[in-house]
Amino acid sequence: MGLGAVLVSALVYGVVSRYVNERAEANIRNVMLTHRGLHRYIQENMHPTFFKAQADGQVGLDFYSPIIFSSSYIVRVMHGLYNEERVKDGRPPIYYKMASDNPRNPVNRATPYEAQLLRRFNEQRDLKEFREVTDIDGEPFLVHAMPFLETGQACLRCHGKREKAPIGLQNLYPGEGGFNEHAGVIRAVEIIRAPLSKERYAALLLTGGLLGGLVGLGSLTLFNRHLRSKVQERTIALEMEIVERGRAEQQVRILNQDLERRVDERTQQLKAANHELDAFAYSVSHDLRAPLRAIDGFSQALDEDYGETLQVEGRDYLHRIRRGCTRMGDLIEDLLTLSRSTRRPMENLSLDLSRIAQEVIQELRSTGADGRTEFVVQPGLVAQGDPVLVRSVLQNLIGNAVKFSSKVETPRVEVGMVSGSHPAAFFVRDNGAGFDMAYRDKLFGAFQRLHDAEEFPGSGIGLATVQRIVQRHGGHVQASSQPGEGALFTFTLGA
Ligand code: HEC
Repeated sequence: MGLGAVLVSALVYGVVSRYVNERAEANIRNVMLTHRGLHRYIQENMHPTFFKAQADGQVGLDFYSPIIFSSSYIVRVMHGLYNEERVKDGRPPIYYKMASDNPRNPVNRATPYEAQLLRRFNEQRDLKEFREVTDIDGEPFLVHAMPFLETGQACLRCHGKREKAPIGLQNLYPGEGGFNEHAGVIRAVEIIRAPLSKERYAALLLTGGLLGGLVGLGSLTLFNRHLRSKVQERTIALEMEIVERGRAEQQVRILNQDLERRVDERTQQLKAANHELDAFAYSVSHDLRAPLRAIDGFSQALDEDYGETLQVEGRDYLHRIRRGCTRMGDLIEDLLTLSRSTRRPMENLSLDLSRIAQEVIQELRSTGADGRTEFVVQPGLVAQGDPVLVRSVLQNLIGNAVKFSSKVETPRVEVGMVSGSHPAAFFVRDNGAGFDMAYRDKLFGAFQRLHDAEEFPGSGIGLATVQRIVQRHGGHVQASSQPGEGALFTFTLGA
């Protein structure tokens, strides 16, 4: 851009200074042509009139004055006055000279430069003017030169042989200067020289201003382009980011959908497998009941009909068989309950938990299983769920609580709600044997037993049933305890 600016400014400077020079030259030429007009007026009009007047005897033969008859004199003086007027007007004077190598008046003597020009005009007759810009004492000047009128016969009257010139003239100009000229010769050049410093200054100023403007404009354009490209870059980056983000989101969405689909599939498979397993467990348990009943029935019949023929030991075996049958029956019942808790279609009703707990306790009391237990049931416990399944939960938890607290001095079982819990968390607490928290995870598995079967008989299916029911309701069950300090079971029924 710097190079461009330099080139442009050089070009502009060239054009501007040329324009300025041309204008200055036109002015100078005007001055020159005005002078020439005046020369011609004097030569062509005044001279003939003068010579006629002299010939007619109206003017004395010895009269001559350059003040009224020499064009070179008149124009020189006139130019001096013109310069005075210029200076008054605040403008520089313009140098003017009628330069000759054979001057009548010494002020007209040509400098070597002017003499050279004169020779040139004489040699090249078709050359009508000469101009150049030269530095004089470090100042620029425009020089304009023109050949003066060619010397003709009329001129020789005053510029030929001295003795032929008017007497008045001879008297005024002693010596041979301006005499002995020949026709067809150019005997002088008119030179005008005008200072150009002002014009050049103007050109410089103009160029400088223009250049400054150009540079300013250029920088602004560049800066603008820079800003615009920055904005564009940023826009593209942002757009790409948005596209990228969209793509990433799309991918995450696809992955999520895939994952969900797979989880769904697995869940379906698991459900199907569970269902099958439950169906299998149910049918096996169900089918086991008939043969079991047969074993029990026939052992009873054997005992009743032939018991007396058997020895004591034989009868003891029979009783053991029957006790085994009872236990196995209970086990099968529990398994069927567990199975039902999964397979049974659920109802969703508003339940009075306090009343259900009271009824469960009532049932336990009627079978005499409650022992000396003290029951505390918080009134006003309500929940949403399936009445049969929720009752089964309370039966198991309260049953367990009674069972495991039966060995303590003052057994106590409490049913209530954890205050401020949301969703509502219900609890069944006892002050019985409790369990080791290390085995907490095993607690809810089927057939898992933490206690000795002789000490606390049971199938080990109850808590598995509880967990399954609670989970089907969308809730959670958890247990906490310290061995010997009782157990606390908490459960929720849905969110
Ligand atoms: C009536 C006389 C007369 C005639 C005719 C005449 N001149 Fe001159 N000329 C003079 C005088 C006188 C001077 C000197 C004036 C001065 O003091 O500068 C002069 C000066 C000049 C000068 C200035 C140089 C110098 O010698 O001082 C030139 C050039 C010149 N004449 C050219 C011509 C030409 C060309 C003609 C014809 C077209 C012509 N003159 C006709 C009288 C004459």
